Amino acid sequence: MMPVNAALRDYLMNRRSVGQAFLKEPGPNGSELEQILTMGTRVPDHGKLNPWRLVLFAGEDRAHIGDKLKEMAKARNPGMDETDLERERMRFQPPLTIGVLSAPKPHPTVPEFEQLLSAGNVALNLVNAAFAMGFAANWVTRWYAFDKDAARFLGARERERFVAFVQIGTAAAVIEDRARPRLEDIVSRWQMT
Ligand SMILES: Cc1cc2nc3c(=O)[nH]c(=O)nc-3n(C[C@H](O)[C@H](O)[C@H](O)COP(=O)(O)O)c2cc1C
Repeated sequence: MMPVNAALRDYLMNRRSVGQAFLKEPGPNGSELEQILTMGTRVPDHGKLNPWRLVLFAGEDRAHIGDKLKEMAKARNPGMDETDLERERMRFQPPLTIGVLSAPKPHPTVPEFEQLLSAGNVALNLVNAAFAMGFAANWVTRWYAFDKDAARFLGARERERFVAFVQIGTAAAVIEDRARPRLEDIVSRWQMT
């Protein structure tokens, strides 16, 4: 048996996300980002298809994206009040957001379902990689992952869909944990019927 990796065990035992409101500057620098991307894309992937693609949102682009999202939100919900519209404008405010696109490839034996799951692996691994580098992170999708025009604006190509926007920054608060499932509620031993 391999020795216990105490640091990894303790991390996984206590891991929790840090919401957007608490993701502040600084974000990862170039070399930190490269490591996060390398770790994040080292995932189980049936058929070695790399059925995903990443888009980075950072720096000055964030303001432009915010303006456009606000405009799109208003067009879709003309009754939306200014506070909610401002919230839409701020969605990409954390120092770095990594969009994870599921980009399935035609394959005779690996169904799209499995390729989609592999993209989910990338999303959670990016979250974990960000924490490994001393940052904090949060996985969101929100309406612009599902709205075709918004997703295209954010970089989705034909037949691709966003499975995550992984927001990354420096934690500005210690986040209280939320209730976790009781194992007895979600785990059972198989029984012959
Ligand atoms: C696929 C997926 C989409 C999510 N989308 C959102 C979202 O749009 N908005 C949101 O507030 N939280 C969203 N969440 C939940 C956040 O990731 C949340 O912070 C997380 O569940 C906290 O759990 P943790 O502390 O165990 O990481 C999403 C989670 C998943 C897995």
